[in-house]
Order: sequence, then C-alpha cells, then structure tokens
Amino acid sequence: MEKLYKEYSYSSIPFYVFEECQSTNTALKEWASAHPDKTKAVFIAKAQSGGRGRLGKSFVSQRGGLYISFLIRSNSTCSDPLYTTTDTAVKLCQMLEELTNLSPKIKWVNDIYLSGKKLSGILTEGVYSPSGEIDFMIIGIGLNIKDISHIPEIADIATSLESECDGNLPTKEAIVKVLTDKIYNGEYALNKEYINRSLIVGKRLTVNDFNTTYTAVAQKIEDDLSLTVTKENGERVNLKSADVSIKIG
Ligand code: BTN
Repeated sequence: MEKLYKEYSYSSIPFYVFEECQSTNTALKEWASAHPDKTKAVFIAKAQSGGRGRLGKSFVSQRGGLYISFLIRSNSTCSDPLYTTTDTAVKLCQMLEELTNLSPKIKWVNDIYLSGKKLSGILTEGVYSPSGEIDFMIIGIGLNIKDISHIPEIADIATSLESECDGNLPTKEAIVKVLTDKIYNGEYALNKEYINRSLIVGKRLTVNDFNTTYTAVAQKIEDDLSLTVTKENGERVNLKSADVSIKIG
C-alpha cells in the first residue's frame, strides 16, 4: 500500500493511495472491519479492476479518474445510506462549483451529470452488526477527470472534467482535499438543495423497477427524496431508490 498526500492537512485520518485495486469500497470495508477503533479513513485508487456501481453494475475505472472511498463510523451523522448518498451528491456538486466554473446536476439518485452525460457516480454501502444496527458506512465516488472518449463502453454516455473544463482542470489533490473536508466537516446538505440540483423533473424516463421496465415522465422529487413519476397510462408511481434504475429518454 502506497501512502501519499503527506502534506495533507488531515494527518490524523488514515489516507491510502493504491496504484490499482479491485474496488476501493471493498478494500476499505475489509480494512474498517479489521480496524474497529478507526472512525475515518480514505482509500484512493488510480485505477480499479472491479469497480462497482449501484444495483450490481460495474463501474469503468481506468487510469485518469478518481476512485475514492470514505469510511464513516459515527452515530452522530446520518446513518442511512440513501441520505448519505444524496448528501454526498450535493457535496460533490459544491466541490465542482468551487473548483471549476461548471454547473453540475444530479440525476436521481446517485449520478452527477454535465452536458447530459454522466461525470460521476456514488455508491454508499452500509455494514450492519448482527443486531441489525449500522456499524459503518463506506461512501465510494468515481469521478471521470481525464478524457474518457477513447473508452468504448462509456464514450457515448459519460463525460469527464477534462472535456468540460476548458483547460482549467483542477488537480486531483485539490479535488480530494475539498471533498474530504466537505464529507468529514461539512453540514448535512438539506434535501431541498438536492431537489434544486436535480435534472430529471419533467424528463421522459425508462424506469427499471425490480423486473419491470416502463416509460414514464418524472413529476417530482418528494421531500423524502423518493421520485414520483407518471406512467403513459396516467398512473402515478412513487419510486424509492433501493431497487430502481432510471434512464433519461
Ligand atoms: C454508480 O455509478 O452506480 C456508482 C459508482 C461508484 C464508483 C465508485 S469508484 C470508488 C468506489 N469503489 C467502487 O468499487 N465503487 C465506488
């Protein structure tokens, strides 16, 4: 394991950078289980061989991106992986707004979009004790920094900071520093902030809900951050994020 960012101000936080690992979420989960006294830790990989996304999907993780996971072991902050994801989505947007002149948007529930394409995704995983209480959470973020247009699997659906930034590309170190500060020291983002940054209201969607797929129009993100859609037959459906994926269009 290679330790970087020696100048990093969070010297008390264990901070590890891997040349490559399978998944920083998996590696940090194992590390956190073996270090029950640690409440915070950050794992970064320059590339991942088995990057994971929501709903068992894979996350393309070639060199040039940021693949980062944060350990949250605390009973004082929010302990629901859904709201940790939505809070992180707002913090990611705020970080990008501070370091660039971009205006990112959130695609319910865990994706950050720019110019209609995915820039970043979040995978929050809770690890529970035998009594069913949350022991700790891992927040994993994948962010495309360098150009990804040569990667056939994602070239049409994803974008990168390099493609969007007009030359003013923030350094990875700056991104990590601002993000770490927001995640460990920031205020919990209001649901309203998440809703205001959402890009899907009014859009036509393809919804994959358990084993059914249908088209619908996004009506509203509710105060509890569930999504209300209207099917083509006029039926309104309220979607909780757990087992639902949506595609715009
Ligand atoms: C998604 O798009 O559904 C979420 C993608 C989350 C990817 C990040 S990269 C760092 C961390 N390690 C993983 O294996 N996944 C997350």
